[in-house]
Amino acid sequence: METRLAPTHTPETLHQAVTAAVAELQAGNPVALPTETVYGLAADALRPGAVVKIFEAKERPLFDPLIVHLPSEDWLERITAIPPRSRRLVEGLIRRFWPGPLTLVLPRRDNVPDLVSSGLPTVAVRMSAHPVFNSVCSAFGRPLAAPSANRFGRISPTTAQHVMTELGGRIPLILNGGATEYGLESTIVKVEGSVLRLLRAGPVTPEGLGSVWRSVKESQAEIPNEVDVSEFFEKLGITFPAIPPSNEGLLIEAPGQLLTHYAPMTPMRLLPRPLDFVPPTASKRRLGLLAFSQAPAGKDFTQVEILSATGDLREAAATLFAKMRSLDEGGLDLIYAEAVPETGLGIAIMDRLRKATVQNVQ
Ligand code: TXA
Ligand code: MG
Repeated sequence: METRLAPTHTPETLHQAVTAAVAELQAGNPVALPTETVYGLAADALRPGAVVKIFEAKERPLFDPLIVHLPSEDWLERITAIPPRSRRLVEGLIRRFWPGPLTLVLPRRDNVPDLVSSGLPTVAVRMSAHPVFNSVCSAFGRPLAAPSANRFGRISPTTAQHVMTELGGRIPLILNGGATEYGLESTIVKVEGSVLRLLRAGPVTPEGLGSVWRSVKESQAEIPNEVDVSEFFEKLGITFPAIPPSNEGLLIEAPGQLLTHYAPMTPMRLLPRPLDFVPPTASKRRLGLLAFSQAPAGKDFTQVEILSATGDLREAAATLFAKMRSLDEGGLDLIYAEAVPETGLGIAIMDRLRKATVQNVQ
């Protein structure tokens, strides 16, 4: 199959690209589209025969459910059944973070195909803020199921070229919207009654979620303080020094995601303090370093990639996957990744680095 790459940078090319994408979606085919987080591989969410092609192109196991992207907010009530106890919280989160990089997991209605939710009683929903994604979704007029547009278990694509490398020859069309803004997949929270469970760290930080939860709680005096989050951090064996104790109402949970997600092909290890680290110079191994803000002087690395020379976590998140790919393509034997400060967006970056390096933990 030939994969077309459609530009979107002028009003004319955008119009042509949207028309071509909608035609493919109507024919039941998947199309790769930019979102503000990463590129997604989209298909008609309410048509199992279209959704199954996403799984085929990605070689994704059928037990891994997809995120449904809504063309407008009114679709939320059409595919989810929001429990009365969760309503204020859901409305607060939507008002603050939609459209944007926040995915909500809510009880689903019967029109959501089992293939989309993997037979779970819940469905993951979000509204993208990306103009290209939105133009396609609005013109199509139906929700789009869209996982990241990479082969299963690989790094999420943040450029159209990455999508071509991952899925070229397997899908008919990629819309080129340039590099994505955030570079990390959306934050996923499950709304359970009046409590939030963080399933995946992302651009919307625990601090941001906690502040909405608190403001809803303050306006709803009858909701008891149900949780002590520190217990959940401990269970994971992860410390979140930056999360203030005021993050009540937010539970953190390791989701049903496979631990080898986001992994480059080259073995990768996490380094807590790279500046003190002395690579084994005598060895003939080609070593790579994914550094946070500076290259360590006088160290024997074959390739060094720096996430943000100014130590900006936003820039680091936006470039993380592209730099990981670049190191992966460098013919290296081993890649070291420097830990970043675990505050704000750094929590999501460290989550991805841990997942990329976990198979190397002895
Ligand atoms: O930023 C994003 O979220 C991107 C863009 C394309 O929107 N999408 C994305 O999709 O990252 P994907 O399929 O790569 O990751 C979705 C995650 C999976 O780990 C899946 O297990 C989880 O969401 N998920 C989906 N439905 C769920 C549900 N009902 N309950 C719990 N987890 C769910
Ligand atoms: Mg993915």
